[in-house]
Amino acid sequence: MNESILKTIGVAFTVCLVCSLVVSTSAVSLRDLQKENKLNDRRLKVLQVADIYDPNESIAQQFTKLESKFIDFNSGMLLSEYKNYNIDEYDQLSATKNPQLSIKVDASDDIAIIKNRENIGKIYILRNEIGEIDKLILPIRGYGLWGTLYGYIAIKDDFNTVSGIEFYEHKETPGLGAEVDNPKWKASWKGKKIYKDNEVVLSVIKGKVDESDLQSSYKVDGLSGATITSRGVTNMVSYWFGESGYSQLLRELNYES
Ligand SMILES: Cc1cc2nc3c(=O)[nH]c(=O)nc-3n(C[C@H](O)[C@H](O)[C@H](O)COP(=O)(O)O)c2cc1C
Repeated sequence: MNESILKTIGVAFTVCLVCSLVVSTSAVSLRDLQKENKLNDRRLKVLQVADIYDPNESIAQQFTKLESKFIDFNSGMLLSEYKNYNIDEYDQLSATKNPQLSIKVDASDDIAIIKNRENIGKIYILRNEIGEIDKLILPIRGYGLWGTLYGYIAIKDDFNTVSGIEFYEHKETPGLGAEVDNPKWKASWKGKKIYKDNEVVLSVIKGKVDESDLQSSYKVDGLSGATITSRGVTNMVSYWFGESGYSQLLRELNYES
């Protein structure tokens, strides 16, 4: 009797041990693949927002069409180098977890509810055939209803007109806030203007934009039943195109307001 209980426990233990070894080995061996998939997913969004994605070509190959630069948010300057970081591997979101590489955003300024802002970000530049800037692809993030939405905005060479928006991660509800991924809604951002008289005025309104409204180029249709997500998107645009975000850089590049 005793022997059979011992045997049962022994078998159960061995099965548990074997299973845990299998799970942990596959978790470790798949980690690199998962990391690469995540990176590829973000790169895909960057290519899509820049409107240059070709499904027949590899993402890595297409990504070489873009130039990556560090941006110092304190000065608005673009940098080719930052410490010992390899720009392709630099993760600005990890920097937000390091107090030496980020600042705590003052609650009164934290309209996008990001809590910490990295000192150095990373942007992408698409150039035309003669080497001039054609588009800038700028990371944005901010809180919606259920969590932080992470994405990119592409702007044209007037440094004020939106040419695309894409989110690569969020926790909003399918059919409501997750309509930020709706291709029709994303397309409605094309041609919208961010700044008017040096102020960020672009906003996601409640309801539909009246095209006869003289201010319609500063307004995007609200997501129906998702006013909180819509407000979150407005707030992240205000924050990232404001003084703590890209406005110094864009002013330097001479945006037409
Ligand atoms: C289960 C559930 C999920 C919801 N998800 C979202 C969401 O993702 N984004 C959002 O803004 N509102 C969401 N809402 C609705 C909000 O609670 C709120 O009512 C809404 O933002 C108000 O928008 P409206 O004024 O357009 O109705 C959700 C509500 C429920 C019950």
